[in-house]
Amino acid sequence: MRTHHCGLIDESLVGQTVTLCGWVNTLRLQSHVAFVDLRDHEGLAQVVVERDNAPAFAVAGELGYEYCVRVTGTIRKRLSANDKLKTGTVELLADTVEILNAARDLPFALHESPNEDLRMTYRYLDLRRPEMQAMMRKRIRLVQALRRYLDARGFQDIETPILTKATPEGARDYLVPSRVHAGQFYALPQSPQLFKQILMVAGFDRYYQIARCFRDEDLRADRQPEFTQLDLEFAFVEEQDVQDFVEELIRHVFKEVQGVELDAVFPRMTWAEAMRRFGSDKPDLRIALELVDIAVAVKGVEFKVFAEPANDPAGRVAALRVPGGASLSRKEIDGLAEYVARYGAKGLAWIKVDDRAKGREGVSSPVAKFLDDAALEAVLAATGAQSGDIVFVGAGKWKAVTDFMGALRLKVGKDRGLVEAGWKPLWVTDFPMFEYDEEGQRYVALHHPFTAPKVDDIADLKANAATAVSRGYDMVLNGNEIGGGSIRIHRPEMQSAVFELLGIGAEEAEAKFGFLLKALKFGAPPHGGLAFGIDRIAALMAGTESIRDVIAFPKTTSAQDLMTDAPSPVGEAQLKELHVVVAATKA
Ligand code: AMO
Ligand code: AMP
Repeated sequence: MRTHHCGLIDESLVGQTVTLCGWVNTLRLQSHVAFVDLRDHEGLAQVVVERDNAPAFAVAGELGYEYCVRVTGTIRKRLSANDKLKTGTVELLADTVEILNAARDLPFALHESPNEDLRMTYRYLDLRRPEMQAMMRKRIRLVQALRRYLDARGFQDIETPILTKATPEGARDYLVPSRVHAGQFYALPQSPQLFKQILMVAGFDRYYQIARCFRDEDLRADRQPEFTQLDLEFAFVEEQDVQDFVEELIRHVFKEVQGVELDAVFPRMTWAEAMRRFGSDKPDLRIALELVDIAVAVKGVEFKVFAEPANDPAGRVAALRVPGGASLSRKEIDGLAEYVARYGAKGLAWIKVDDRAKGREGVSSPVAKFLDDAALEAVLAATGAQSGDIVFVGAGKWKAVTDFMGALRLKVGKDRGLVEAGWKPLWVTDFPMFEYDEEGQRYVALHHPFTAPKVDDIADLKANAATAVSRGYDMVLNGNEIGGGSIRIHRPEMQSAVFELLGIGAEEAEAKFGFLLKALKFGAPPHGGLAFGIDRIAALMAGTESIRDVIAFPKTTSAQDLMTDAPSPVGEAQLKELHVVVAATKA
């Protein structure tokens, strides 16, 4: 149908007859001549249709934006080159113009930035936009580079089931009713976790898969109900082996796909340090601001808001110094207080330092009056505050303060342009093994229940569960968790003990994970691995905030596909066949 691609014509073709196919990107009809910018996946070509060529000129007159057309003609040099365009030195003088298909009543103009719902409903038009094409291609190149790297190093790409049994990663499962087994359900995998571990038991040694994962959880810009992992597992390894390998892999693909040299060695930080200094388990190290604990400074003050958490082992009083922040207006500060309230803050105290040399006289603050001179001085000294700065203080339960002060750090960093350019990867290690779920009154696994504890001794783990540290690790890049993994439990006794600590009784463990416990009994090797979030890495590389931009057909934040209109009701007959009775329908 075509001899060349629109975006690739150049001066070497001058004088030649070529045929291009594509979509009408822009159209300028003049009395003697029509200019059509024709677009395909490679870019734009200018087509010129002259009035002397009556049949072609007539067809040009019928064209509209996004019409699909085929043009044959001769390439010639342009009188004045357009240096904004890759093909800007040449144009195609049309002999024939053929409409392959019309495009009527476009819901939006492609060069505008349409609203999200329209984009999703007419995703094919949205994807035609060059910026979307570029972002999707970034993802494609990333996946190609990952595969090439792993294939060359003996990793085996093995598919694992989609219709399976629940594999818990902390989200709700998507269930599929069985027709053949009335009242029974498959679960879609939240990850291939258990299968990849069993592949290690089966002796495959090095596994990878570009795997689709399904999690029914609340969606955000960096979360989709179905997403893609680069899933990896290694037999006979310890933490460092896995980390060294995947660090090199990430450095390699960033070089190849992005042209970026990442740090030769990624910094490492324990989870405790990350939470203390940055209020996050995925710190964005591009922002230089840090939290400072000031409990010691305010332990003795009368102000209960500070003194109580300062004296409570489960409390925290943390300060954030923002250089130059004294210029923040009351309105801006109130805005920040409102923002952190969403993260559980009951209030946000602040101290503006107008003149550091003047001590109490030099500050303005709604809480300074509640602090004696020594306490005020200690807070300012601890944070290193200087004239012109503001110091925010959060007080309360450790988790809430850590979360909201971490959120404040990011917000202020972004709002005030304190985010350095570049790439800041790091490893976060030494996660707690368990997290206490106040609501459920039980421990839950911070990573997943198959992650090994640092201690090898079951009695020791049971005695110190609350403070136990796991062999899990996350890779973080610019404040995004791009990958997570761990060394796994490979002995059945330890796996049973961890289930028990998680409140999963022997019977339940047998029903849910009996196959794993059984497999571990047959000489399971020590093993470990990690999974990267491909959508997140692709989004970072593409420079977009939302992983939806690097997924061809993503779901909306309410987990819908507006193009196909999924999910949707199904007929009675189908439900009956599946032995499903619908109790409630969407209003
Ligand atoms: P984890 O749950 O940390 O680990 O997932 C690994 C990585 O997948 C990405 N990710 C997501 N991306 C988009 N949308 C989501 N809803 C979503 N959830 C997670 C993140 C994350 O770091 N089986 C373990 C891995 C292992 O232990 O080897 C697992 O799934 O980038
Ligand atoms: P109040 O005693 O509630 O009037 O609060 C006095 C000051 O302390 C106000 O500036 C509040 O914003 C601040 N404040 C209240 N609760 C907290 C908290 N949990 N952390 C930090 N500051 C707080």
